[in-house]
Amino acid sequence: MLPIALERSIYGLITTPVLHLALEHGIFDRLLADGPLPSSSVAERIGADADTVERLLLVLAAFEVVRRDADGSFHVPVEIAPFVARDSASYVGGFVNHMVMDAPGRLERLAEYLTRGKEAADAARPAPYDEFYRDEQSTQDFMDAMWDLSYGVSQELAALAGLDGHRRLVDVGGANGPFAVAALRQSPELRAVVFDLAQVGPHLERTRVEHGLADRLSFVAGDFFHDDLPAGDLIAMGYVMSNWPDRECLELLRKAHAACVPGGRLLIMERLFDDGRDGPIATAVMNLEMQVETRGRHRTPAEYVELLTSAGFVDPEVRRSTRDKHLVIGCKPSG
Ligand SMILES: C[S@@+](CC[C@H](N)C(=O)[O-])C[C@H]1O[C@@H](n2cnc3c(N)ncnc32)[C@H](O)[C@@H]1O
Repeated sequence: MLPIALERSIYGLITTPVLHLALEHGIFDRLLADGPLPSSSVAERIGADADTVERLLLVLAAFEVVRRDADGSFHVPVEIAPFVARDSASYVGGFVNHMVMDAPGRLERLAEYLTRGKEAADAARPAPYDEFYRDEQSTQDFMDAMWDLSYGVSQELAALAGLDGHRRLVDVGGANGPFAVAALRQSPELRAVVFDLAQVGPHLERTRVEHGLADRLSFVAGDFFHDDLPAGDLIAMGYVMSNWPDRECLELLRKAHAACVPGGRLLIMERLFDDGRDGPIATAVMNLEMQVETRGRHRTPAEYVELLTSAGFVDPEVRRSTRDKHLVIGCKPSG
């Protein structure tokens, strides 16, 4: 037997696509609605090949994503259910789709990075967001991934941030609005502007209509390296810093400082490395993924504090959620 850590590392290559198939083909939907079920009943209900469904479920059971009862039926454990239920705010389907469809091709670049270095290897490649937004479908997939990755935890982050007294949120790189919507739902006084690349506009508009946010949510198209940011008393940046090297982050944070009204606050929302950079697993993995997807990396709380204080923010504070994304807050002095 291989040590369990090595076994999971090797066979994880198969587990992620299996999870993806189970999400996409409604295996979790059926188990959640009608389970526990034998694999043959799941196969019948989704109109799929019974032998293949059984093998998929056995992999998921071995990895403890589903459980197999004594009579051979399968069910979804309660701690997994919120993440695989399609209508749940914590649904991981869009993010898993993004990883399965995009990561393997990009991970092949690592071999080239190892020998030539990232800068030389990427020289002839399109910029990261030109690649994500290369056509309608990939833009939609990226937006779905951002929503699934961020909406659930944003409800917690908005509560942790404490929005009382704030009037105008500017969500820089706010995508299709996962944090803006969570914040608007929690704070009736608040208005939100999402500042993002023009390709994102129609997706934010769809969110605005679907969530009935009328004039409370608006979009400003722009490039944060070339344009000024709209002014607000709450400037949010979720998974933006992790896309860029320190120099660009500092440039963005200085722009955020200029856009923030005196007495306002900055919210950086990111995965965080432990102080010793020895975990957590998701941050270590996504730190590697950031290298192939973007030009950025994940950081420790101290590194974010250093960046935001260098940009002029004061009273830095780290507030942790129960999930993967946390808050690093800075304040702009009142005057
Ligand atoms: C990783 S996504 C994060 C989305 C969302 N804030 C979240 O936390 O899920 C980064 C966002 O930054 C936006 N972005 C990237 N480059 C940009 C630029 N130069 N100007 C404005 N927005 C940009 C992308 O379009 C995308 O919506």
